[in-house]
Amino acid sequence: MNTTPEAIAVKPSQLTADQLAEEQAREVTVGEISSPNPRMVCRDVNVWYDDKHAIKDVSLDIGKNEVMAMIGPSGCGKSTFLRCLNRMNDTIPAARVTGSIKLDGQEIQDRTIDVVPLRAQVGMVFQKPNPFPKSIYENIAYGPRIHGLTNNRSELDELVETSLKRAGLWEEVKDRLDAPGTSLSGGQQQRLCIARTISVSPEVILMDEPCSALDPIATAIIEELIDELRQQYTIAIVTHSMQQAARVSQRTAYFHLGDLIEVGTTDDIFNQPQHKLTEDYITGRFG
Ligand SMILES: Nc1ncnc2c1ncn2[C@@H]1O[C@H](COP(=O)(O)OP(=O)(O)OP(=O)(O)O)[C@@H](O)[C@H]1O
Ligand SMILES: [Mg+2]
Repeated sequence: MNTTPEAIAVKPSQLTADQLAEEQAREVTVGEISSPNPRMVCRDVNVWYDDKHAIKDVSLDIGKNEVMAMIGPSGCGKSTFLRCLNRMNDTIPAARVTGSIKLDGQEIQDRTIDVVPLRAQVGMVFQKPNPFPKSIYENIAYGPRIHGLTNNRSELDELVETSLKRAGLWEEVKDRLDAPGTSLSGGQQQRLCIARTISVSPEVILMDEPCSALDPIATAIIEELIDELRQQYTIAIVTHSMQQAARVSQRTAYFHLGDLIEVGTTDDIFNQPQHKLTEDYITGRFG
């Protein structure tokens, strides 16, 4: 017998009272979920942690050269959804993901996909900067080396330099490339992690609250960098700062208790939200 959650969902008669109530309360996303020029296309994505239904039928496109902000109260599933985009939930034994997630038309949910190159194509920058316990140079050189992106030392040197330049860190570290990555300030470490992500030529960069441990100056530098990176990459950023979402993103997705409530241009979401839950959140009545 098929006891997968999808099978349960299509047989309402088998639902428990709680599940039935949840089904009936299921939100339909307000706004335009699709993009005319999508890089990632997610359809009917569900995530469970054992019995906990953390992401519920979420469908969303993320466009090329777009910064998509993901906002919503703590625990609503932002990080969980972000982790779907490069199969990082695979690393959590309790997590189970269903639905379709395509990168440039290719299904990444396909079990035969090798997640190592996938995670280079769809890189991730975490809340807390996490440089490897290696030199600044080696932090950047490591990825290109394991992915075989360069042929010799001078090509590798060049790639390290361009990655650090694009992350806006080169001038600050060019004379100390052998110093440990951990010797940098928090804001510098976060730019080092962004340089590391860029060094393997990703198509998409996922950022989970990348500035929450940074001061306003370091935050401003990262935000400028995000705007610049958008020219070449697709970026999805989770943030608790509405100001940040408004500053860096073109589209915004509002999550609530695992549902994608509303998605639209950042302008519309902040100036004329359609859904009451979105309005309550952005006006500070909830969250
Ligand atoms: N590894 C895990 N095991 C079990 N449950 C989890 C796990 N990670 C997240 N959850 C649950 O899934 C739900 C969504 O969590 P998630 O971390 O995605 O929320 P979030 O929106 O990123 O919150 P925050 O803003 O606090 O980071 C929460 O109820 C959380 O408790
Ligand atoms: Mg989170």
